[in-house]
Amino acid sequence: MIRSVILGTGGYLPDRVVSNDALACLHNLDTTDAWIAERTGIRQRHVAAPEQQASDLGLLAAREALAQAGISADEVDLIIVATATPDSAFPATAVRIQHKLGITQGFAFDVLAACTGFVYALGIADSLLRTGAARCALVIGAEVFTRILDWSDRGTCVLFGDGAGAVVLRAEEGQGTAQDRGVLGTHLHSDGRFGDLLHVDASGAQDVVRMAGREVFRHAVSKLAAAVDEALEVAGLTHADVQWLVPHQANKRIIEAMGRKLGLPAERVVMTVDRHANTSAASVPLALAEATRDGRIKRGDLVLMEAIGGGLTWGAALARF
Ligand code: ACO
Repeated sequence: MIRSVILGTGGYLPDRVVSNDALACLHNLDTTDAWIAERTGIRQRHVAAPEQQASDLGLLAAREALAQAGISADEVDLIIVATATPDSAFPATAVRIQHKLGITQGFAFDVLAACTGFVYALGIADSLLRTGAARCALVIGAEVFTRILDWSDRGTCVLFGDGAGAVVLRAEEGQGTAQDRGVLGTHLHSDGRFGDLLHVDASGAQDVVRMAGREVFRHAVSKLAAAVDEALEVAGLTHADVQWLVPHQANKRIIEAMGRKLGLPAERVVMTVDRHANTSAASVPLALAEATRDGRIKRGDLVLMEAIGGGLTWGAALARF
């Protein structure tokens, strides 16, 4: 049975770091570091330079993932970029990264599932690798999310940041058991009835994010809990098998609630939201990159990923590293 084995991870964060206090001051917001940190866990975010686009961030994350995997760009025959902030409607950001990497074989395309984008892209890449449509994939989440914020709306603009994360996957033969290395399952959901809770409003001079924060919060924990239970059940595993939770980094309270639900101690839950804020589709691969780079996630570890975002979209993925 073919498995999509994660051979490398990479992340990139723009150099400019903006603290909560600096953000409040810069945009003349009626907010405080204490309010933001207590409600969300966020203390700072990275902001891309004006000339940096999603493909620039994604390229740097992809290069790091390829280097960690020891794979040369000519082996890659599939690139999927999850982004809500593409360089342009087309060419796809994935095709731009393909070109920047000097790759001319295979195929590349973007996926739009807001903050769940990386989990969707991972699921699609896994399916394509398992059917033999491709052999080696780069799956990237890349966002310049600060470009679509309303800086006068303190309820949303304090929450997001820019960044990119990437993984390299290669099709390898497995035994078909939960002990195999690789993606063991992805479970994807969407429900457009909740589209208005978190959407990009294109009616003004600039496209900006609008959110009913409390409502999103209410959906987040129940939908994520159902998705992770589904992922574990289908794989024949239980909460006790999970070694690492790598959740979407929207909010410390949602992340902690999921950790409690799984019975995981805090040190087994990868948390970056304090330093990265919510980087939408980049948040899960950025967290993965951090936890593999610093040696927390090791070969053979079972990692559970989950995310929820605009759509609503949500999902979970299980992988053994
Ligand atoms: N600073 C100070 N006060 C603020 C701020 C701020 N940055 N933002 C909102 N407030 C005020 C509101 O104006 C409101 O004031 P009022 O009572 O005088 O009207 C008060 O705080 C309460 O507002 P709520 O929106 O009800 O605040 P809540 O406690 O729900 O916290 C938050 C808001 C942090 C967004 C919370 O709803 C949340 O965590 N939601 C989860 C959704 C999320 O994380 N979304 C991220 C994107 S989606 C995703 O990635 C899953």
